[in-house]
Amino acid sequence: MHVRHMERRLREMNLEILSMKEIGGAHAGNICKVEALSENENTREHYIYKEFAEKRDQEVEIHKNIEEILTPFSRVVKVWETSPKAMMMWDLGYPVKAGFEALPIGEKKILISDILKVLTSLHCVEAVQTNLPIHQLSSEWKDWCLEQLGKLGSRKSWASPKWERTIQEVNDRLDIPHYQSKCPSVITHGDPHLENVFYKDERIWLIDWEWAAIGSPLRDVTILMQDIYDDDLISYVPEYYLQCLRERGFILDNDDFWSDLSYLYIDHLTMMLAWEVEKYFQGHLSEKRIRGIIEWKIGEIERVQSEVMDRKNKFSH
Ligand SMILES: Nc1ncnc2c1ncn2[C@@H]1O[C@H](COP(=O)(O)OP(=O)(O)O)[C@@H](O)[C@H]1O
Ligand SMILES: [Mg+2]
Repeated sequence: MHVRHMERRLREMNLEILSMKEIGGAHAGNICKVEALSENENTREHYIYKEFAEKRDQEVEIHKNIEEILTPFSRVVKVWETSPKAMMMWDLGYPVKAGFEALPIGEKKILISDILKVLTSLHCVEAVQTNLPIHQLSSEWKDWCLEQLGKLGSRKSWASPKWERTIQEVNDRLDIPHYQSKCPSVITHGDPHLENVFYKDERIWLIDWEWAAIGSPLRDVTILMQDIYDDDLISYVPEYYLQCLRERGFILDNDDFWSDLSYLYIDHLTMMLAWEVEKYFQGHLSEKRIRGIIEWKIGEIERVQSEVMDRKNKFSH
């Protein structure tokens, strides 16, 4: 972290730093919590300062591109486009992920519903002239996941070779990397897992817009789904999201919806499986936790694969 730059930048905003603390974890840059004295207001304010690592600064560009679209969903205070690229946000407290598992099911459901409502409003924003990239499935997550599982297998005796077989098989059978999304394209956040979602001041906020792109609305829905480890809640997500869309008068073809949901869910389970293994390698997850996560995600991939195969067989008979 270039502390000098940060100090100078805050000084220019008439903010005097009282304390700062780096946030640990596997991040794309340096992130710290800053408490500052506002000389204009004479108040203590809490901010997050995110300094981007080189070549991981797409969020700055995205922000410039769709600033007006982002404003209702995020609480960005300032963005610096000169080196070191950085942004400052209001401190939103802890991500939803932090306390989610411990919540009673009813409260989980309310939170997930609120997140889906927010995603629906994002997806209903008209996507004209945004200059955002287009999201396409590819073999990227399959390749990364196989690589991570391969490493895990060579290091840990408890790693099962069956996991790699499942990933390989689902990609061979369904040709996930060449799947073309069927639903109309919308603006997607691109990474709304529960570490990028916050609840503060009775509202949901989304951070980390690095992967925002034009794509199927099911892109966001399935990234959220892969962070939920509860059968009932998982089947609730698409039903509730469909209801939110309907209330907005946004009608999707039923087959297109369930097809995008299945393929994108499998791709995102694969992506996040690889990422969770990375977090384990970096010491952020226990062995017990990572084993539970892998077993769950592999189980979900197998379940959805057989659902897709059943649907295909029904059509061919
Ligand atoms: N505005 C914020 N308020 C509170 N915590 C934040 C905020 N922004 C980031 N964080 C913390 O830092 C973590 C990483 O920030 P994020 O922008 O998601 O970077 P990355 O691209 O590395 O995931 C978040 O998961 C959260 O714990
Ligand atoms: Mg993040």
